[in-house]
Amino acid sequence: MDIMIAVQDACVSGQWLTAIILSLCCFLPSCLPAGQTVDYSSVESVVSRQGDTALLRCYLLDGISKGAWLNRSSIIFAGKDKWSVDSRVSIVSSVGDKHEYSLQIQKVDVFDDGQYTCSIQSERNPRPKLLNLIVKVPPKIYDISSDITVNEGSNVSLICTASGKPEPSISWRHITPLAGEIQARKYDSGEYLNITGITRDQAGDYECSALNDIASPDTRAVKVTVNFAPAIHEMKSHGVGLGRTALLRCEAAAMPSPTFEWYKGEKRIIKGQDIDIKSLSSRSVLTVTNMTEDRYGNYTCVASNKLGMANASVPLIQSELMTEEEVTLILSSWRPGM
Ligand SMILES: *[C@@H]1O[C@H](CO)[C@@H](O)[C@H](O)[C@H]1NC(C)=O
Ligand SMILES: *[C@@H]1O[C@H](CO)[C@@H](O)[C@H](O)[C@H]1NC(C)=O
Ligand SMILES: *[C@@H]1O[C@H](CO)[C@@H](O)[C@H](O)[C@H]1NC(C)=O
Ligand SMILES: *[C@@H]1O[C@H](CO)[C@@H](O)[C@H](O)[C@H]1NC(C)=O
Ligand SMILES: *[C@@H]1O[C@H](CO)[C@@H](O)[C@H](O)[C@H]1NC(C)=O
Ligand SMILES: *[C@@H]1O[C@H](CO)[C@@H](O)[C@H](O)[C@H]1NC(C)=O
Repeated sequence: MDIMIAVQDACVSGQWLTAIILSLCCFLPSCLPAGQTVDYSSVESVVSRQGDTALLRCYLLDGISKGAWLNRSSIIFAGKDKWSVDSRVSIVSSVGDKHEYSLQIQKVDVFDDGQYTCSIQSERNPRPKLLNLIVKVPPKIYDISSDITVNEGSNVSLICTASGKPEPSISWRHITPLAGEIQARKYDSGEYLNITGITRDQAGDYECSALNDIASPDTRAVKVTVNFAPAIHEMKSHGVGLGRTALLRCEAAAMPSPTFEWYKGEKRIIKGQDIDIKSLSSRSVLTVTNMTEDRYGNYTCVASNKLGMANASVPLIQSELMTEEEVTLILSSWRPGM
């Protein structure tokens, strides 16, 4: 300990630096002299978020003791002398408390993770203070499947990968707007979401969420479009009197949206003076104004897309009564958005 006494008046001189290097060796856990132990159970952990400023606290025993900071086994600071070339590190000694000798690291990153030693040197029994810096990183999804379109019955495999520290856990949910409500079905956690024999009900947005304990989850969604052949689920007509207006309505489910055609018997119906056809994504309405005898009969609606076609037929009969249902049908046929 002769060196340490010399150190007190040599201060920042080269002599002092030599002294501190020599003595620092003795503070490295690997070369502690016999009888001097490090209490690993008391190693303090400092948790910091990537990009934040980390403060590793250390206090000198008195105004005359000297300190040094080590990152693993390399010296960052010896007293007030900076040995590290890293511009992010500095010593914090608060104004009111001259004995503070804390290490500040700006913009911490994962490579700063690890053990730091604050070694306090004085005449009294020197003791290194060990601090374990843990740098955590918020979850970030860096790769996710692109939006896809598949045919019903296909096997679908979606992937979502994320980074973060601790490693984020990945979960999937299926989001479907159903009757104005958002319904979400959860799946088992994991990077992959595999669906065998996908059905039309499984179309929609799949949201991947990456979560760890450091920040709110990162989420991204994949849109899955499921194509299927048309199926006509409604075909309606109502009896109508001569000279009146007849309406026939055909509704089909299909992806992509179907194209509609109308037939009377074998003959294709085209728009004309008394005939109008209005088709929207899932519905087609045939309007016949000024009904005549020859316009009664069997009408067929054909819905088709690239995956197939479907047809349905309905007779249009003569009737002088306009039912309540018919009135409703007329009024409801052109609801916006249908
Ligand atoms: C600590 O040491 C590691 C590994 O040598 C290095 O990558 C990192 O930049 C150092 N951090 C500081 C704050 O000195
Ligand atoms: C989909 O997966 C099932 C079960 O793994 C398999 O039997 C089937 O052959 C697959 N279908 C296609 C089209 O790859
Ligand atoms: C899902 O599919 C991928 C690739 O198709 C495969 O590597 C993975 O093992 C599958 N996972 C499960 C849980 O079946
Ligand atoms: C309805 O059809 C009859 C017979 O074809 C025709 O005489 C009459 O002018 C038509 N009325 C209208 C409003 O088109
Ligand atoms: C109506 O037309 C369709 C298609 O041409 C045919 O299959 C069906 O038997 C007809 N129905 C009647 C009642 O004539
Ligand atoms: C209607 O569908 C049947 C089979 O379901 C088919 O045989 C027929 O040709 C179709 N008619 C038209 C007009 O497409």
